[in-house]
Amino acid sequence: MTFQSLPGFRDFYPAEFTARHHLVSAWRETSRRYGFEEYDGPPLEPLELYVEKSGDEIVEQLYNFVDKGGRAVALRPEMTPTLARMVGARARSLPKPIRWFSVPQLFRYERTQRGRLREHFQWNVDVVGEADISADAEVLAVALDSLAALGLNSADVVARVNDRRLLERLLTTTVGVTPERLGAAYAAIDKLGREGADRTRERLVESSGLDRGGADLVLDLLALGLDDLSTEYGAHELVGPEIERLWHYFGLLSDLGWAEHVTFDPTIVRGLAYYTGTVFEIFDRAGELRAICGGGRYDNLLAAVSDIELPAVGFGMGDVVLGELLRDRSLLPTSAPGPDYFVVTITAEERPLMRRVARSLRARGHSVSYALRQVGVGKQFKEANNRGARRVIVLGPDEVARGVAVERLMTTGEERQVPLTELES
Ligand code: HAM
Repeated sequence: MTFQSLPGFRDFYPAEFTARHHLVSAWRETSRRYGFEEYDGPPLEPLELYVEKSGDEIVEQLYNFVDKGGRAVALRPEMTPTLARMVGARARSLPKPIRWFSVPQLFRYERTQRGRLREHFQWNVDVVGEADISADAEVLAVALDSLAALGLNSADVVARVNDRRLLERLLTTTVGVTPERLGAAYAAIDKLGREGADRTRERLVESSGLDRGGADLVLDLLALGLDDLSTEYGAHELVGPEIERLWHYFGLLSDLGWAEHVTFDPTIVRGLAYYTGTVFEIFDRAGELRAICGGGRYDNLLAAVSDIELPAVGFGMGDVVLGELLRDRSLLPTSAPGPDYFVVTITAEERPLMRRVARSLRARGHSVSYALRQVGVGKQFKEANNRGARRVIVLGPDEVARGVAVERLMTTGEERQVPLTELES
C-alpha cells in the first residue's frame, strides 16, 4: 500500500523547505527592521471565532469538526481572529500600539488551483491600538519592503489601495445603496476583477437593491482614478474628507519610499467581512497570478471577539503565490547551502583525527560533514561535491606525519597547507 499527501497539502523535501525558509527568513528579517515582535497561537480554535467575524466565504472553507469533548472547533483559516482574541485578553497590560507578526500555517478547504492550496504559510503583520493612518502606511511599507528584500521591485509588483470608508460614502450618498446592503455590494465589487462587469452588474442588481441604472453608476464610479474623484467629489461634504485621507496616505507612503509601488484602485474591497478602512492587495505587475498579499484596517474586530475596543490594521502574505512569482524569476534558492567543510581521509588511520578536527571546527560554529564510513577518496570527494561543501580538508598519512592537512577551496580548486594545530585547537 502506498500513500500520497492529501490534495492541496504539500510535502516539503529539503529543496522545497529551503525555498520556504528563504521566504520566511526575509519576512522575519523585515519584521525585525520595522520593530515587530513575533507571536503565535493555537492551530485549532473554537468554530465560533470565525463564524460571522470572517465572513461567508471563509466560513464555507473551514476545516471544522466536533472534538471528543463535544466542542465545535476549526483549524485556523486565518490569523486575524486569533490575534484579536489574544490581544483582547491582555489588552490592558500590553503597551500600545502593539506591533506583532506571526507566520502561521493556515487551512482552507478551497478548490485547489494555481496559487490556491488547502494549507499555506501566511506572514501576518499587524498594528493594534493606533487609529492614525500612519499605521496603515507603516504596515504596507513592511509588506513592500519584504518583497524588495526578496528581489521584487516596483517593476514586478504593485499595491492596489482603496478605503472602504470612501467606497461606503460613494455608494450610500451618490448611488443610494442602503447601509444594510453595503456588505452585499462589497461582495459583488470584490469579484469584479475575476468575473467582469456584466456579472458584477447582475450581482449588484440581485443583492444590493439597485436597478440596472444604479449598478451602471457603481461600475462608472469604479472606473475613476483618485484625481477624477477629487475633481468630481472633492467638495462633497461627506466624500471629500475620505478622498483627502487617501491623498494623505499616499503622501506618507511616498515619504517612506514606496510611491512607485502603490496605486489607487476603487475595486479593491477585500473578501473578509471585518475591514472598516483602508484595504489593499499586492499583485504581480504582469497580472498573471492571484494576490500575493492582502490587508487593511479592521477597527471593530477586537470588540467583536473580546470586551476591548481597539483599532487595528495589518496584512497577510502567503507563501504560495509569492513562491510561484519568485520561482518564475529564478529568485528562489533550489538547494540548501552546503557545509563549510567536508573532511576527507586517505586511510582509516586518520579517522580519529578526522572526528577531532570536525569536533573542533563545529565548536567554532562551522558546519562540517564527512563520509560516515571509510570509502575511496574519489567517492569522498564526490560526496563533498554533491553536498555543495565549500572547502575540503584532506587528511593523508604523509601530511599528518608532518603535522599538516591540505585544504582545498572547491570553487577554484586552490589548495593550501594548514597546520593540524590550527584545525584541532
Ligand atoms: P487573505 O486575503 O484571505 O487575508 O489572505 C492573505 C493572502 O494569503 C492572500 O493574498 C494569499 O496570498 C494567501 N492565501 C490565502 N488563501 C490561500 C490559499 N488557500 N492558498 C494559498 N495562499 C492563500 C487574510 O487572511 C487576512 N486575515 C489578512 C490580514 C491580516 N488582514 C489584517 N491582518
